[in-house]
Amino acid sequence: MRNRLSRIIKPKSGHCVMLAVDHGYFGNVPGQLKCFGDLNPLFEYADALMLTRGMLRSCVDPNIDTPIVLRVSAGASMLKELSNEEINVTIEDAIRLNVSAITCSIFVGGEFEKQSLMNLSKLVNWGQEYGIPTLAVTAVGREMVRDDRYLGMASRMAAEMGATFVKTYYCPNFENVTSICPVPVVIAGGKKIEERDALQMSKNAIEAGAVGVDMGRNIFQSDSPIGMIRAVREIVHNNASVDEAFEIYKQGPKGL
Ligand code: 5RP
Repeated sequence: MRNRLSRIIKPKSGHCVMLAVDHGYFGNVPGQLKCFGDLNPLFEYADALMLTRGMLRSCVDPNIDTPIVLRVSAGASMLKELSNEEINVTIEDAIRLNVSAITCSIFVGGEFEKQSLMNLSKLVNWGQEYGIPTLAVTAVGREMVRDDRYLGMASRMAAEMGATFVKTYYCPNFENVTSICPVPVVIAGGKKIEERDALQMSKNAIEAGAVGVDMGRNIFQSDSPIGMIRAVREIVHNNASVDEAFEIYKQGPKGL
């Protein structure tokens, strides 16, 4: 378990930059995700890729040595009730795909809250049996407030269920989230914002105790995805300032 986790959260810095490209699992295929295979040049810059088995099989070069965090949940599209999710991948297939962690979402306060928490428990039980870390994603429904009270509660619940690490959203007073969650926390990037603002958010999260990011749209929807992920890495792994990181982003290259 610790060996697999150390492939994602790098022991040297204690931090990680994961690239989230799993959005299509509920029918959300923004921008560059439409031609998923074109993103391959970006993958080597990530400490881990978070994605589904379908895209791993059909669009990711098997020679890439980037650890995989496999989304093993699905169920409802963005046209329906997203919290109605179940586990759709067997642990045997996850092992066959040589993944470094497995992941699903929990919908605390959502319509299918209990089902999603039992999904997480199933992954934790599998993970214990086979030594595979579980990442819990605290998904946020439209009606939920993304504040430190809610995200802290959801993150703590994930840790109490036995998640190895937790992905949640950044919010003001983020130290109130990390301080009550005894396992490592990474932040999602959320909707695309200005590059400088995304770098500032990453910096704020690290300073508030996050071990890293699991960022998607703010990297692959940037005009310079490689510049952006290199910039985020400088903040997360090398304690760069936002100004220093922004300079790295500006160096590009433009496009992929
Ligand atoms: C969906 C997810 C996504 O991976 C997550 O939203 C991260 O991507 P982004 O940085 O684009 O928000 O887990 O539940």
